Amino acid sequence: MAYKRIEIPAGEIDRQREICARIRARLESSGERPLALVDTYGCQQNEADSEALRGYIELMGFGFTDDENEADLIVVNTCAVRAHAEMRVLGNVGALVHAKARNPHLLVAVCGCMAQRPQMAEKLKKSFRVVDLVFGPHELWRFPELYERARSTQKRVFEVSPCEGVVAEGLPERRGDSVKAWLSIMYGCNNFCTYCIVPYVRGRERSRRFDDVLAEARELVAAGYRDITLLGQNVNSYGRDLDEGHDFADLIRAINDIPGDFLIRFMTSHPRDATEKLFRTMAECEKCARHIHLPVQSGSDRVLKAMNRHYDRAKYLEEVRLARELMPDIVLTTDIIVGFPGETAEDFADTLSLVEEVRYDAMFTFIFSPREGTPAARMPDPVSRDEKQVWFDELVERANAISAEKHAGYIGRTVRVLVDGEGRRGECNLTARTNGGRLVHLKGDRENIGRFLDVKITDGNTWALYGEI
Ligand code: SAH
Ligand code: SF4
Ligand code: F3S
Repeated sequence: MAYKRIEIPAGEIDRQREICARIRARLESSGERPLALVDTYGCQQNEADSEALRGYIELMGFGFTDDENEADLIVVNTCAVRAHAEMRVLGNVGALVHAKARNPHLLVAVCGCMAQRPQMAEKLKKSFRVVDLVFGPHELWRFPELYERARSTQKRVFEVSPCEGVVAEGLPERRGDSVKAWLSIMYGCNNFCTYCIVPYVRGRERSRRFDDVLAEARELVAAGYRDITLLGQNVNSYGRDLDEGHDFADLIRAINDIPGDFLIRFMTSHPRDATEKLFRTMAECEKCARHIHLPVQSGSDRVLKAMNRHYDRAKYLEEVRLARELMPDIVLTTDIIVGFPGETAEDFADTLSLVEEVRYDAMFTFIFSPREGTPAARMPDPVSRDEKQVWFDELVERANAISAEKHAGYIGRTVRVLVDGEGRRGECNLTARTNGGRLVHLKGDRENIGRFLDVKITDGNTWALYGEI
């Protein structure tokens, strides 16, 4: 492979930490306690990145706020996966002129996947003067340095050069939750699905070293985390770029061997690389959650080929069959794109029939959004937006009905759940997740947060279950 892995030396991260310490000392000596807001769009990978940003910001001596009018530093961590995600970011960033008018010291940074798109970086430069600092995902490890440069020079800083991607270990993390934790195991993507912007903005696939991932998993378990989600755009190809001789299934098994009461989840598993070994390992590892998110995207072989997905309907259905044979209680979820360029009514009917056949517990459905620079954005796309909307609505209606039927099947059963937070659902003040990841609303004592409990399911709808401890 032509791609050369770029590992950031530990000394470089130490240097970033030193910059944080200097900023902190300066703030302390002037008696200031500024506040920061980190606003995150997009996927769990971005959530994990924001935890590292908050880790740095905490070391810099800042406190945190949710109110943009109180903030002295706002970091917007963006997503580029669909046009809608970008429009929302631009709208919200544009509106920050008001906060800046009130607080001229406010520093606004935009980072993440959208910032890495040259067109968007250009747009931010020209039309969004409120933004002081723009950097892509590959520069995140040196946020303290970039912040300090923007602050001290009072000049706008843009760091968005093309990059195949870095691996940086040892960043500080300020985790957002005490029960559930994200654990990135790899970055980037090599798949180049024809509709998708991710490989362009996140760079090539690179796995974190096996021992580094294991060490972090051990730390999380020791710190009391009960639900650990392994993250990557395509976790099934974990390890292929390393010469360590471990694949994703080996990683699951090694984490499963860590003593403690916790669950292992993972996102996202590409059907192209989902192996029998993976399903067998899941079935054999008692800590591995009985849930697999297996994005199918389409039920039509013709469309799957045009999407460059490298599997067909038959292979996908065989994987589903095998997963269910080995784990009869497995929860299956998926992503589907409606209205891919050239998709016909028959193709869409194939997607509907696949959904009827698999009967997913939950589905995430999207209308195709052309992303400049991807092959699909240049394909003829004759179907109107209105027609795509009709297909979309039909699919969502079926998906919701199936989810509701599946959830109704839980009523009367007693299931083990992990209580993971406080809810605001009328009577139900707690939220929990089943082993398969289904949301359960509960009534009970706050002290149960972080505990595994047996609950009786009393009700269910499309989105959630209701239960009693
Ligand atoms: N790596 C994951 C997906 C990450 S993006 C995987 O391969 O499964 C999350 C979802 O966004 C995708 O599964 C796809 O359904 C959707 N998506 C990506 N690009 C899109 C586009 N251009 N238009 C509409 N939906 C898109
Ligand atoms: Fe995008 Fe495909 Fe990579 Fe997923 S596997 S991130 S959909 S290119
Ligand atoms: Fe969006 Fe980037 Fe994730 S494009 S979906 S935030 S990898």
